[in-house]
Amino acid sequence: MNLVFLGPPGAGKGTQAVDIAKERGICHISTGDILRKAVRDGTPTGLKAKAFMDAGELVPDDVVVDIVTDALAAPDCASGWILDGFPRTLPQARALDAGTSRLGLPGVQLVLFFNVPDDVVVSRLSGRRMCRACGASFHIDFMPPAAEGVCDKCGGQLYQRDDDRPDTVRNRLAAYRKDTEPLVSFYRDKGLLRDVKGDAGPGDVRRFIDDILGEGL
Ligand code: AP5
Repeated sequence: MNLVFLGPPGAGKGTQAVDIAKERGICHISTGDILRKAVRDGTPTGLKAKAFMDAGELVPDDVVVDIVTDALAAPDCASGWILDGFPRTLPQARALDAGTSRLGLPGVQLVLFFNVPDDVVVSRLSGRRMCRACGASFHIDFMPPAAEGVCDKCGGQLYQRDDDRPDTVRNRLAAYRKDTEPLVSFYRDKGLLRDVKGDAGPGDVRRFIDDILGEGL
């Protein structure tokens, strides 16, 4: 099963992708997570990406395309994958098709579009807290950890992402509208896109997705 999770920042893509990938034994490839790790580790990719991420802008296509092509070729992704946060531009989507076909791998089978209005995005991102150790995501109101500031999964320390500040969120939403939203019609025209009502509680969103995935994949 090869899936793309598409949608605005804070739509809940990562929250759902982590659980679904684990349960189905497929890879979860989050370009945001990979880039944040590269920044933390100070790699050449991280050094290139940092200024773009801090400003809420998209990292150049060639940087993320290389990351994803390498990840897809890994043996543990042979049983399938969820791409979370990629592709985010039309050139990335075309590079994904070209890359999978060059590697002789099956391409995208289904794109789940998490449809969430801007006011919900802003409230989800302003309350998001992430674990420094394992990257798990929480929300101070909607998905609070059992103990404030402590990760339920590994006991790590929770923090607020720099790019979840209101001014950066505005830039991320603008980048989404300009560069990523055109992918909705790109994939709809190919007959690959299914809408997920993302403006609902996490359990309901998961049920919408399970209904879609139960239809033959
Ligand atoms: P990235 O990390 O991919 O950020 P994003 O797409 O903006 O996505 P988020 O991680 O913010 O949101 P999400 O949809 O995963 O929501 P989540 O599940 O966490 O990218 C960061 C940056 O890296 C980009 O700005 C760019 O610079 C760069 N980058 C990455 N990929 C790139 C690419 N392909 N090309 C170029 N540049 C790239 O949920 C959000 C919050 O809501 C959490 O607190 C969660 O607990 C809560 N929540 C989740 N679901 C629900 C629900 N149903 N109800 C209530 N609360 C919920």
